[in-house]
Amino acid sequence: MVSATVIYAAVPISAVVVLGLVRKWRSRNWAKCTSNTCLRGKTFLITGANSGIGLETAKALVKRKARVIFACRDIEKAKQAVAQIRHEQVTGGELIPMQLDLASFESIEKFVEVVKAGFNKIDVLINNAGVVIPLELDMKTKEGFEIHLGVNHLGHMYLTNLLLDLLKKATPSRIVIVSSTLHTKGKLDFDDLNLRAQIKKAKSGEVSRHNPGYCNSKLMNMYHARALADKLRDSGIDVNACCPGFCYTNLFRYFIKWYHYILMAPVAFLFMKSAKQGAETVVFTATDYGIEGHSGKFYSNCAEYISPYPFDKNEETKLYERSEEMIKSRKPL
Ligand SMILES: NC(=O)c1ccc[n+]([C@@H]2O[C@H](COP(=O)([O-])OP(=O)(O)OC[C@H]3O[C@@H](n4cnc5c(N)ncnc54)[C@H](OP(=O)(O)O)[C@@H]3O)[C@@H](O)[C@H]2O)c1
Repeated sequence: MVSATVIYAAVPISAVVVLGLVRKWRSRNWAKCTSNTCLRGKTFLITGANSGIGLETAKALVKRKARVIFACRDIEKAKQAVAQIRHEQVTGGELIPMQLDLASFESIEKFVEVVKAGFNKIDVLINNAGVVIPLELDMKTKEGFEIHLGVNHLGHMYLTNLLLDLLKKATPSRIVIVSSTLHTKGKLDFDDLNLRAQIKKAKSGEVSRHNPGYCNSKLMNMYHARALADKLRDSGIDVNACCPGFCYTNLFRYFIKWYHYILMAPVAFLFMKSAKQGAETVVFTATDYGIEGHSGKFYSNCAEYISPYPFDKNEETKLYERSEEMIKSRKPL
C-alpha cells in the first residue's frame, strides 16, 4: 500500500511539474532574437542597465563582444551589475559603469560631458530605464516634473538630444526606446501634463486600474520615437520603440507587498516572462540587421507590431514641441 507520506509528497511535486509544463507550453510563443553577429567595436549605451530588462540586454550584448556603457542612477549598482556579469563568466565585450540620474537635468548634462570625453561615437542608444510609482506619493524630478513624465520621457528625450552628434558619427546607428503596450491606456491632457488633477484624485483615495502617469509616459515614448524617426529620416539613425512584454522585474517594487508574492506567484509563473525573455525584443530592435533602415516602428515579441492606438500627428507634434519647451525652460509648463 502506498504510504500517506508518498501521497503528500506526490501532490505538490505533480503540481509543480504540471505548472512547469504549462509555462513551457506558453513560452513557446515568446520569440527569441536569432541575430548573433559579433558586435566587437560597437558601443551601446543602456540606461537602467543594472536591473531587469536593461541588465539582461547588457548581458546579451556583452556576450556578442559589444562595448556597453551601463548608465545607472546609482554608480554602486552599476559596478555590481558589471561584477555580476563578469562573475557569471560572460566573457568578451567591455563593460563601463557610469552614473546617470534621469531625474536631474544637471546629472544628464554631466553624464553626457563624460561620455563625450571618453567616446567618439555611440552606435546604439537604448532608452530603457523606467519607473512606476504610485501617484499619491507625488514624486517629482529635481526640476519639479511629475516623476513618470520627467524620468521616462523628458529625461530620455534630453539625453537623446545631447547624444545625437555621437550617434551621427556612428551611422548606421540606432535609438531604441523601450515603451510598453500600456501606451494604449495613455491619455494626454496638454493643460495638465504634470498630472496635478490625477495626483489630487489619487491622494483622495481614488484608485485607477492602470497608473495614468506610467501609461502616459509610455505613450509619450511612442510619440517621441515616431517624431524623432521623422526628424532623422535619411540621417542614418534609425529610431524605433519596443515592448519587452509583461516581465517579472523590479519595476513594480512600489506596489509589491510580501503577500503579493504568494497570491501572484501562479500568475507570474504562467503569464510573465523573465527579464531575460523580455530582453530578447530589446536586443532584436537594437541589433537585428534585417530591420536596418526601418524607422518609426514598434516591435514586440521580436517582430513589428501595429499598435491599435489612434496616433494623432497633431498630438505628436504638440507633445514634441511642448517637451522641448519644458526641457529648455527646465520647469513644467
Ligand atoms: N517589466 C515589465 O513588465 C515591462 C513591460 C513593458 C515595458 N517595460 C519597460 O521596460 C523598461 C525596463 O524596466 P524593468 O522591467 O527592467 O524594470 P526595473 O528592473 O525596475 O529596471 C528599471 C531600471 O531603471 C532605472 N531607473 C529608475 N529611475 C532612474 C533614474 N532616475 N535614472 C536612471 N535610471 C533610473 C532603475 O535603476 P534603480 O535600480 O537604481 O532604481 C533600473 O535600473 C522600462 O522602461 C519599463 O517601462 C517593462
